[in-house]
Amino acid sequence: MKNAFLVGDKVYLRPIEPSDVPSLQQWMNDREVAINLRFVRPFTEAMERSFVDRMSQGDDVALAIVTRTGDRCIGTAGLMQVNWRDRSAGFGISIGDKSHWNRGIGTEVTRMVVAHAFEDMNLHRVWLDVYVYNARGIRAYEKAGFTREGVQREAHWSEGAYHDVVVMSILSHEWRAARDAAPRPARKAGANPRTRRDTVAGRNAR
Ligand SMILES: CC(C)(COP(=O)(O)OP(=O)(O)OC[C@H]1O[C@@H](n2cnc3c(N)ncnc32)[C@H](O)[C@@H]1OP(=O)(O)O)[C@@H](O)C(=O)NCCC(=O)NCCS
Repeated sequence: MKNAFLVGDKVYLRPIEPSDVPSLQQWMNDREVAINLRFVRPFTEAMERSFVDRMSQGDDVALAIVTRTGDRCIGTAGLMQVNWRDRSAGFGISIGDKSHWNRGIGTEVTRMVVAHAFEDMNLHRVWLDVYVYNARGIRAYEKAGFTREGVQREAHWSEGAYHDVVVMSILSHEWRAARDAAPRPARKAGANPRTRRDTVAGRNAR
């Protein structure tokens, strides 16, 4: 692991580096990935670089998702539109390497970033928008503890039709209740105590 910021069972999250840009650009131009995201323009490397630069400024949290086995960057996740008065932020994730879909990584990363929002940043509400046709995303967010709170009717245009946008959120007390109800992993006698970040991510990575 290199520059690990949050550590889970399958993946860790670290700052996005300039060397990640070519992969990020390739994924943004992959229709199967991008159809679930806000962006529809063809992405040049320069556009991707400037997006990454913008994400690393201000209060946004932008992180690369990296496999613990093999140290491969497979996508990005983070928090945006942090509002310190309302103590809320939007969550975003994209696993661009499709060979890693449906393996529980999206759920694990969602839990890790939400734990960071509540435990480290003292936020109260994390929200997200997801297109109604993104059943995989909706399922992953539900598994991570998000509740559907409403629908923006026909708010999104894609592939020649309007689609509903589902709004989901999780509140800090809901997350704490789920965390406290979850079984704790057994510790091996004499095992080294984990770092705080390992503990935060690890106990929410199931
Ligand atoms: C959406 C995304 C983050 C989910 O991550 P993931 O690692 O693939 O998701 P997980 O494996 O944790 O969970 C996916 C769940 O959806 C289920 N699923 C997959 N396809 C499905 C479908 N068509 N209908 C219903 N459920 C589906 C899986 O079976 C799994 O549920 P289970 O564990 O109960 O079996 C990831 O696929 C991704 O980044 N996609 C491209 C970009 C994107 O959609 N970003 C999110 C924008 S809001």
